[in-house]
Amino acid sequence: MSFLEPAGVFDREPAPGLKIIESGKNAGTGSYVPETIWKNEDLEKMVETSDIWIRERTGIGARHIAGEETVAQMAVKAARRALENAGICSTELDLILVGTSSSESIFPNTACLVQDEIGAFRAACLDVSAACTGFLAVYELGQLYIRSGKAKNVLLIGADALSRLVDWHDRGTCILFGDGAGAIVLTAEEQETKACEKIHSDGEKGVSLTCEKGTYLQMDGRAVFQFALSRVPEVIREVLKEAEVPVEEIDAFILHQANSRIIDGVAKRLKAPKEKFPRNIEAYGNTCAASIPILLDEWNRSGRAQKGQRIVLSGFGAGLIWGAAYLEW
Ligand code: UT7
Repeated sequence: MSFLEPAGVFDREPAPGLKIIESGKNAGTGSYVPETIWKNEDLEKMVETSDIWIRERTGIGARHIAGEETVAQMAVKAARRALENAGICSTELDLILVGTSSSESIFPNTACLVQDEIGAFRAACLDVSAACTGFLAVYELGQLYIRSGKAKNVLLIGADALSRLVDWHDRGTCILFGDGAGAIVLTAEEQETKACEKIHSDGEKGVSLTCEKGTYLQMDGRAVFQFALSRVPEVIREVLKEAEVPVEEIDAFILHQANSRIIDGVAKRLKAPKEKFPRNIEAYGNTCAASIPILLDEWNRSGRAQKGQRIVLSGFGAGLIWGAAYLEW
């Protein structure tokens, strides 16, 4: 079957009044982080900072560094794990979408490099540039492809190596970021679901977090912090309103791991217990587009994921771009 042929999934009309739709179900997850770890103590030797400052202001204790490893190589490792977890063969994939802002080559894109490595010859392969909201963006697009009937099996990847984009002399930014990749496989399933996604952008405020080609990442940390604290609870409320699901009924909020204080602030504004906000920022730092799928993979593999659970994903970052998704596990 060619990619453009209808997947044949809309062979019956949903009964009037019922919300049965063909939507993407999470069939499997995978993630990968490079072996090299730089602890806060290692950074103390590079810039004027301290383990205590970094932990208190961000919640970060260490980050993994890609070194020679490319974004595509990390993405392939996460993808293979997700496919294995889903029990799906790469040749069954209709679409590969990669959220990344730090791939080594301008083209071919990372998704095509992944396709070649894993042998997903039927898949259309596209990269999406949306910085730390990259995974949210590919998640929404993957769902739209499935709901339109254009794709049945979709591989979604968030992969970044921001260690290559930061100035390791700038203590205001270098302490924050780490490298890694995460992936999930969505498969089309006829289901009664309220799943929905929202992405917003504000190009006017883009100046607060930039990275021009050939230069280092520049950030107004306080501005980004305030942006996240106001926009993330707002967009989460927006998707939950559309899904008609109260905040109290959400089992887990899987947020982009940028700063533990941002996560605490979002929990407070939503009046939701902090325990519902799993985090792994202590071990990985901010892995940009990879942070949400890495956390989802840990949620899945640690046995915390249960069928029917109500989950919110939310990402935010450069652009400025932010978004949220409501899904049922
Ligand atoms: O994925 C989305 C991308 N980014 C983000 O989400 C980042 C959002 N912002 C943040 O996480 C925080 O703004 C930072 C962690 C970046 C900074 O924390 P802050 O509490 O906003 O600190 P600040 O920039 O207001 O700086 C406070 C002080 C300053 O010193 P003075 O002027 O008060 O003497 C900084 O020079 O802390 C100093 N400082 C540091 N000190 C030790 C800044 N960075 C460091 C450091 N170690 N690494």
